[in-house]
Amino acid sequence: MDVDTPICRILDLARWAPSGDNTQNARFEILSPDAAIIHGFDTRAEVVYDLDGRASQLAIGALLETAAIAASGEGGALSITRNKGAAETQPTFEVRFVADAKTNADPLLQHVKSRSVNRRPLSMRALTRDELLELEGSIGPAFKVKWLHRASERLRVALMLFESAKIRLVTREAYEVHRSIIEWHAKFSEDKVPDQALGADPVTTRVMQYVLGSWERVKFFNRFLAGTWPPRIQLDLIPALACASHFAIVADRLPQTVDDQIEAGRAMQRFWLTATKLGLQLQPQMTPLIFARYANEDRPFSAHPNALSMAKAVRRGLVNRLGEHATAHCVFFGRIGAGKPAEARSIRKPFESVLVKAQGIQ
Ligand SMILES: Cc1cc2nc3c(=O)[nH]c(=O)nc-3n(C[C@H](O)[C@H](O)[C@H](O)COP(=O)(O)O)c2cc1C
Repeated sequence: MDVDTPICRILDLARWAPSGDNTQNARFEILSPDAAIIHGFDTRAEVVYDLDGRASQLAIGALLETAAIAASGEGGALSITRNKGAAETQPTFEVRFVADAKTNADPLLQHVKSRSVNRRPLSMRALTRDELLELEGSIGPAFKVKWLHRASERLRVALMLFESAKIRLVTREAYEVHRSIIEWHAKFSEDKVPDQALGADPVTTRVMQYVLGSWERVKFFNRFLAGTWPPRIQLDLIPALACASHFAIVADRLPQTVDDQIEAGRAMQRFWLTATKLGLQLQPQMTPLIFARYANEDRPFSAHPNALSMAKAVRRGLVNRLGEHATAHCVFFGRIGAGKPAEARSIRKPFESVLVKAQGIQ
């Protein structure tokens, strides 16, 4: 197949949009040099963080936004139509490139490939007024940013993340996700998260690799060796203190539908690319938001007897920081700050490997 066509170049760039744990949850069916079907899918059957498909839908929104930005670089626009008949677990979109000589390249275009999650401690320098305004302006009128930047707020968020991280480390469902998404001894990973991008020091990383080798080891370490402490301190508590601010992107309307999540994912990606353009580093912190939602819905997300009560405590922590309304309307939560770009990162599967024929996902 000829991949040197507008639609292939657009989708090739769109693949650099982020997805939870680098799952890359979309496949492309090329219809013509200008048109394709994007077959999204969610990971609710395997991933405890995606039981309602929302994280996957955010990633698909980010992919569509990136495709639209890429289209501007081809000198045109992208029309995007969701197939309303497709199952919610497999949202499907027809995308068509329409050339328009008047289109200018989007200023975010050049940052698509360099945008990357940064899980390391960041500078605590406060964001400037210009940075705040540009970030707030990037997400469109349907969303607002709530900043949590004071030292006392960062401390409280850090403690909330510390609690949330405990759920990740003591539930078997989360263990099954972590063991399958980390690529060990890696700086880059095409289809997972490389261990060097996790943010732990080399010794802790090796201990994590050993412990994650079996669920029995996890239980033993947690029970007798305070196994949850070192990773929670290094991966959650310290980075949460070492940043300029935490942020919540809050939708005006209560997000309920797939389309709401897609819109939110588009806003998330513009915010993240704008941060990259400003030379800022960003890390999503989605698990407290996800656990808070499960708690609110009384969703039995784990067989661990205390999982739901721990999630309820995380929810209380989030509500104390954001209030009830913003907690319910929050679509993206994370931290941001100046810093060096991450050296280790997820990369992407080869373009050819995400192409599918007319039947859909293979
Ligand atoms: C919806 C969504 C949720 C995410 N949640 C987290 C998170 O809770 N913690 C984290 O460290 N990274 C999170 N990430 C970052 C992804 O793991 C990361 O973007 C992905 O592995 C690709 O790597 P890249 O950003 O370097 O391209 C999230 C990304 C997306 C799109």
